Amino acid sequence: MKRIALLGATGSIGRQAIEIVEAHPELELCALASGSQPLDELAARLGVRHTQVGGDLTELLERCEPDVVLNAVVGFAGLPATMWTLERGIDLALANKESLVAAGDLALAAQARGGGRLLPVDSEHSAVFQCLEGHPAEQVHSIVLTASGGPFRGRTRTELVEVTREEALAHPTWSMGPKITVDSATLANKGLEVIEAHYLFGLPYSRIEVTVHPTSIVHSLVRFRDGATLAHLGYPDMRVPISYALTYPERAATPLPPLDFAAGLTLEFSAPDLDAFPMLALARAAGERGGTLPAAFNAANEVAVAAFLAGRLPFLGIAALTEQVLAAVPGTPARDLDELVAADAEARRTATLLMALQP
Ligand SMILES: NC(=O)c1ccc[n+]([C@@H]2O[C@H](COP(=O)([O-])OP(=O)(O)OC[C@H]3O[C@@H](n4cnc5c(N)ncnc54)[C@H](OP(=O)(O)O)[C@@H]3O)[C@@H](O)[C@H]2O)c1
Repeated sequence: MKRIALLGATGSIGRQAIEIVEAHPELELCALASGSQPLDELAARLGVRHTQVGGDLTELLERCEPDVVLNAVVGFAGLPATMWTLERGIDLALANKESLVAAGDLALAAQARGGGRLLPVDSEHSAVFQCLEGHPAEQVHSIVLTASGGPFRGRTRTELVEVTREEALAHPTWSMGPKITVDSATLANKGLEVIEAHYLFGLPYSRIEVTVHPTSIVHSLVRFRDGATLAHLGYPDMRVPISYALTYPERAATPLPPLDFAAGLTLEFSAPDLDAFPMLALARAAGERGGTLPAAFNAANEVAVAAFLAGRLPFLGIAALTEQVLAAVPGTPARDLDELVAADAEARRTATLLMALQP
């Protein structure tokens, strides 16, 4: 029996994780956490004793003795749980990419001390993780992350000036929470994923590529030194990578049908448009410069997306504000968690100030 602490239980990933756990007798939920939604009813239905709404989630983790922590909190708020889990050598199923992006070096150091597994839940990283299995690092040439391109794929920068919140939230292939859906529309999500991949797979940024693949059937690819490329294919459904992370290395059955090739399957790939979607290049640059800049990228994006969703910033303002914040903050090495948290707070303050100064 694997005891799973589910953080972000009321969200898109959280709800799908509950479905997976309920379908597998060898999985058991030992704790549930949310940000503000009450959990009593859900906990009673699922028979879970330990719950927490908001606050410091490490207090919940201390109480519930998990074998696996599924961190599906959205945003930088997921960081303490990521660090707590890695430090203690407990397996971390990570959906909360923001914590690894912001604190990559510190998180990997904590994992090295703790000795637990870091299992990606993001579908792209789960795909790469699976394609890499059994292959030593020296055989790997590069990895290719696929991006659906979001609802605005094919539009020029000018055509993005007046897009609305509702249009940005209408993702063509994935059904997800609002923040990641907007991140997919700006390609910030793919930028976060490039940084996430750098830390998860230990590859330099020059060997992490992004390709636009509208149907999201190929979840990502790994190129090897002999010219072979392995790809991971499946219908776009997060229950597959969630199940893989929770049942690893067993690969349990899911209700998903196998791909139907007889129905016809066309796989298209193209280069991302970095002019219309500058967040991808901004993230890559922040990742390459390192230190506290990935945390600043993430913080600026979180502030900008919240403002866009609240109707206070236009769509193109998300990238403009993030660029301004990255130019304004110093980007120092993050030697410990306190420095990182301070850098996150400074980037948020700068973003808020810059927004207030805008006409
Ligand atoms: N959805 C996907 O398909 C998908 C795919 C790949 C990766 N991810 C990643 O998975 C994470 C979750 O995404 P999502 O789409 O599931 O988001 P979501 O639907 O917005 O759910 C977010 C969850 O986080 C909780 N939460 C927010 N702030 C919190 C806090 N301060 N403390 C504790 N819990 C907090 C929310 O609780 P309340 O309901 O109470 O606010 C909710 O349960 C994100 O990092 C995202 O990038 C998601």
